[in-house]
Amino acid sequence: MNNKVALVTGASSGIGRRCAQVLAANGATVFAAARRLDRLEGLRDEIVAQGGQCIPLALDVTSADSLSEALALLPDGRLDILVNNAGIGDSGSFEEIDEPRWQSMLDTNLTGAWRVAREAARLMSAGGGGSIVCTASILGLRQAQQQSHYATAKAGLIQLVKSMALELARQNIRVNALAPGYILTEINDFFLNSDAGAAFLKRVPMRRYGTVDELDGVFLLLCSDASSFMTGSVITVDGGHVVNSL
Ligand code: NAI
Repeated sequence: MNNKVALVTGASSGIGRRCAQVLAANGATVFAAARRLDRLEGLRDEIVAQGGQCIPLALDVTSADSLSEALALLPDGRLDILVNNAGIGDSGSFEEIDEPRWQSMLDTNLTGAWRVAREAARLMSAGGGGSIVCTASILGLRQAQQQSHYATAKAGLIQLVKSMALELARQNIRVNALAPGYILTEINDFFLNSDAGAAFLKRVPMRRYGTVDELDGVFLLLCSDASSFMTGSVITVDGGHVVNSL
């Protein structure tokens, strides 16, 4: 991925942080974006110490102004790869989730992803093409208790990925989704490490949660020319969770 410019949203922790490290280790210049600039500076220092290139960007995906300010810092407005990964988690029963919680979930996990992808596609189109990879979830394909807002947002994101793939193919922009199962990160470590989390594990055929490095191969595939004929695909990485037994 030498000479490629990549933007990773939600790069301050978890999956996005790891993805930024992997893209930088494979030669890309990575613009690592999230709201917590102090954490991104730590990531930049780590990547630079390993010989990679990383530029931290303050970005709140729920704000169009914040996005314009962040994208203005890309060199000559060039962007080859977008990893559209920023997201939040929350759980609550369908009846208990009120409108602010519903709206906040949709604002970040669906509208935020749409907002960033749309601006990225404009830049990629002007630059001759690119690759957009969205971090969806197996909850965009199936459903679980207490996740009506999250599952709806991720299902919407998967449909957005397919729609973008269709409309952007002629501009040489490929759009694919990664649908992880349960991966230990800050978004869910409280639940996954609880008794309820241990019981939940029985539904995962491989009987374990994933680790962020187990997504490396799929990110590299989808971001790079190794997937040059792939667009509109959704790849699950979930220890077999979506094929569990009825
Ligand atoms: P995390 O909580 O460690 O990371 C989320 C990242 O998104 C953080 O960098 C956070 O600052 C950023 N973020 C949140 N709201 C933002 C906003 N408004 N603007 C900019 N950045 C924002 O969680 P994790 O697990 O790394 O999540 C990354 C993505 O992976 C999310 O989209 C999540 O839904 C998805 N995912 C995670 C799974 C898991 O088991 N950890 C499973 C399936 C999908």
